[in-house]
Amino acid sequence: MKKLNQMSAGLADKPDKRQGYPCFDLVIEAPAKINLTLDIKGKRADGYHELETVMHQIDLVDRIFLQLGGKGIRVSSNSELIPDDETNLAFKAAQLLYKKFALKEGLQIFIEKNIPVGAGLAGGSTDAAAVLTGINQLFKLELTPEVLIHLAAEIGSDVPFCVLGGTALARGRGELLTSIADGPKLNMVLVKPDFQLSTPAVFRDFRLDKVQKFPDNPAFLAAWQNYDIINVAQQMNNVLESVSLEQRPEIAIIKQQLCELGALHALMSGSGPSVFALFAESRDAEQACLRMKDQFKESFLVSSYRKGDTHDRKTSRTG
Ligand code: C5P
Repeated sequence: MKKLNQMSAGLADKPDKRQGYPCFDLVIEAPAKINLTLDIKGKRADGYHELETVMHQIDLVDRIFLQLGGKGIRVSSNSELIPDDETNLAFKAAQLLYKKFALKEGLQIFIEKNIPVGAGLAGGSTDAAAVLTGINQLFKLELTPEVLIHLAAEIGSDVPFCVLGGTALARGRGELLTSIADGPKLNMVLVKPDFQLSTPAVFRDFRLDKVQKFPDNPAFLAAWQNYDIINVAQQMNNVLESVSLEQRPEIAIIKQQLCELGALHALMSGSGPSVFALFAESRDAEQACLRMKDQFKESFLVSSYRKGDTHDRKTSRTG
């Protein structure tokens, strides 16, 4: 596996000259994920749901700055929306490796938060994955991707995929991963409405008998492998919409608006409430994004983030 989304200190556009940014030894990009399909096969004895979902990274990225030194593990960020204590998944990731490998030297973690919070985009999970990868490098632990992915599952269901990156079919709680080769680079608009949804609450209210249409993952993957964007769009499906759209009908309206603006299809990501829409042409996506921004300030023009990609800060699409 390639080294994960990293820029070595010195190569990166050092942000320590910018107010509020720390010095750092390593900066790692942490991309958001969307679920191109999401199926639930049933509820498990441990309370989790058995998933079958195609996960895909997009070029909406947080940046994780790591610096060795000081005492213990400390987390800070540019966002007031995320905790800076041990409840932050990035902190949990660091703590896990510190305990397991009896690490001594202190670590400062600064999170540049660009991914909307509570949005179904794995924002906290991707930060945690970046911290695992970063500590592995800084402390020269030489943990293999398989070991990192195994450890990631202790932190949260989406963290293993965030360690793996790219596109993957995830089963089990989300930790049984099969990498999928790059398909078409997607032109998308992502809209995060001005509210959050609780993942446990959405899963709790899920009823198989309320689902009208289930994803056909083999059909999705066939379209994906053929770069058949029309059928990729047609096969995008998320059973959790049956819960979230009931709770917040605004999500259905956003989907409708995006389709009226020319999207091939629009779908909620994860447990929501973010909606992403797929466009055949990047120009159409750009225009639709401008229109959606009038109503939803958290509207982003996004594309696929492939393993090894880096997202240039100057072209950051946040805000
Ligand atoms: O694993 P994680 O803590 O990210 O999951 C958050 C919540 O989402 C769980 O507490 C559970 O309610 C729900 N979940 C689930 N089945 C999954 C993944 C998550 O029920 N496969």
